[in-house]
Amino acid sequence: MKRQTTLLIYTAAALTAIAASPAFTVDASHPAGKISPKLYGLMTEEINHSYDGGIYAELIQNRAFLDNAKNAVHWSVVNDNDSAAMIALDPTNSFNDKLTMSLRLTLGRAAKKHPAGVANSGYWGIPVLPKTQYRAAIIARADSNFSGPVTVSVVSEDGRIVFATGKFSGLTTEWKEFKLTLKTGRVTPTAKAHFVITLDRPGTVWLGLVSLFPPTWNDRPNGLRKDLMQMLVDLNPKFLRFPGGNYVEGDTVETRFEWKKTIGPIEERHGHPCPWGYCSTDGLGLLEFLEWCEDMKAEPVLAVYAGYSLKGAHVNSGADLEPFVQEALEEIEYVIGDTSTTRGARRARDGHPSPFKLRYVEIGNEDWFDKSKSYDARFTQFHDAIKAKYPQLKTISTIGDDQPEAARVHSRKPDMIDGHYYRSVDTFLHMSPDYAKKYDRSGPEIFVGEWAAYETSFPPWDGRSRNEPPTPNLKAAIGDGVFMAAMERNSDLIKMQCYAPLFVNVNPGGRQWRPDMIGYDAISAYGSPSYYAFQMFSRNVGDEILSTTSVETSVQGSATRDSQTGEIFLKLVNPQATAQMMNIEITGVTSLDSKGSAITLSGNADQTNSLDHPRNVMPVTTTVRHMKRQFIYTLPPNSIVVLKLKARS
Ligand code: AHR
Repeated sequence: MKRQTTLLIYTAAALTAIAASPAFTVDASHPAGKISPKLYGLMTEEINHSYDGGIYAELIQNRAFLDNAKNAVHWSVVNDNDSAAMIALDPTNSFNDKLTMSLRLTLGRAAKKHPAGVANSGYWGIPVLPKTQYRAAIIARADSNFSGPVTVSVVSEDGRIVFATGKFSGLTTEWKEFKLTLKTGRVTPTAKAHFVITLDRPGTVWLGLVSLFPPTWNDRPNGLRKDLMQMLVDLNPKFLRFPGGNYVEGDTVETRFEWKKTIGPIEERHGHPCPWGYCSTDGLGLLEFLEWCEDMKAEPVLAVYAGYSLKGAHVNSGADLEPFVQEALEEIEYVIGDTSTTRGARRARDGHPSPFKLRYVEIGNEDWFDKSKSYDARFTQFHDAIKAKYPQLKTISTIGDDQPEAARVHSRKPDMIDGHYYRSVDTFLHMSPDYAKKYDRSGPEIFVGEWAAYETSFPPWDGRSRNEPPTPNLKAAIGDGVFMAAMERNSDLIKMQCYAPLFVNVNPGGRQWRPDMIGYDAISAYGSPSYYAFQMFSRNVGDEILSTTSVETSVQGSATRDSQTGEIFLKLVNPQATAQMMNIEITGVTSLDSKGSAITLSGNADQTNSLDHPRNVMPVTTTVRHMKRQFIYTLPPNSIVVLKLKARS
């Protein structure tokens, strides 16, 4: 980040202007409330190839040949004029009852100089990085005339450059797993590469599973992509809400997120259709979500399936719902049970003996969509069962503060309610000053479990959003800023908030929704202006809310303080296309250090970031000198500014 210095020197003219300028006053004499320590978190689900082709680091697309029952999508034949290979899906020769398909590779003609085989195109390419070790795992068997060798390589799309290669032998007619390490040398990074499996003599081989991993975050097997994890850690998230969103519901009851099918070795996971139009491998399953939280030092906010699915089916409360309640209780036991419990022991066998920390369980997702109005009874059944077994857990209702009071759960008092706010920038600008002022402070706590500002004239679920860039521009980040300031001002009640969706694979066909916070392809990633706005808020928060008043200004903001250090964080959002000279006053302090700092995100409203231009809109940190308890600060046009002030009381 760039560092510059801003000098606040008042000329006579400026002093006259102080009296006339729009004013923003912070009362630091006593805190107006406590900031929730877990206010800033993340929300995630399988959408926009967030997991497969996203943070889940697997590089082979359709690794178990289950994506399409008719075609071996993402796989293609590799041969030349002197070799001949054929591939076909083979449901009659499957590795086990989970991986119910295999790929039969038959070579009629092949020789050392004329190998042939099959290639996988990855998730829009295989990322090739210099001096990098890739772990390949292949489950295969062969006909009795062939035992190897089999060559596996990462090669350029045109087949001319071999970036990394290895061989294995010893195939038999029985299924076996072969593991190899492939190492690249001093290559130029590229994603224009394929993964290729070739034989150099005739034979038939069946592939049950083909997996390839680059180095992962914390070196976890079956782990997560390092660059994306770094971007998340940089947001300092306190929780992770998973696995949805619509993904937890599924389109139908049968295609819900069924946690038991997502644990154990990857060859035990069949995967399932996700509601966003593609199949999930379930490679990123319950344990991986929990380890993801652990690796970010964030706490899980676990959403359980609650008997309502996206296409409208619901399960009646009572006996019909009971198996789903049990499924959730067992899931919770997997998360927090010790090893004397059945599911705690299973978690230990899966590699994680110590229980995870869990406090919040969300019951379903967006159940206001359920036209049968069955949520009150379904929530009650889940809530009672969870509280009976785990009284320490807090339950979250999915009918939140964005829905009319009458539509919410009444038979029980949820500990928290989850409201979703996808709103235009203009709506956020208008609603934020009064957001949550009217709410009953003795009611359930509020979770804003999904929110985002959109800068278009149509909402994210409108088909036209497909023609827009996947990630939002600075104007949207300004909308985010005013809403985040509003949530911060009300953080005595708004205990957690998370932007959604978090991720988008920007390749054609990768996206189902916009705007999204972080964009990527197979090899690189970037943060949108919304990413940086969130980062500016989440990393500069403290633990106390300070009251603010603003006069004659469209600038919105919030003030918070770190009670240990006395540092004040003043966040100001200027939605106007002109600079705003603000008369800022901090009351209730004896003095202010003359030196402070400012973090500024600003530019043209329509400026944005992309893979090619990832740093167009970035926060800049400057040192600010000659600060006093009352000072003039000029906010650039279209800006979010965090002023960090050292105060003495
Ligand atoms: O974030 C995209 C979708 O928006 C979520 O899956 C759903 O909960 C909401 O409607």
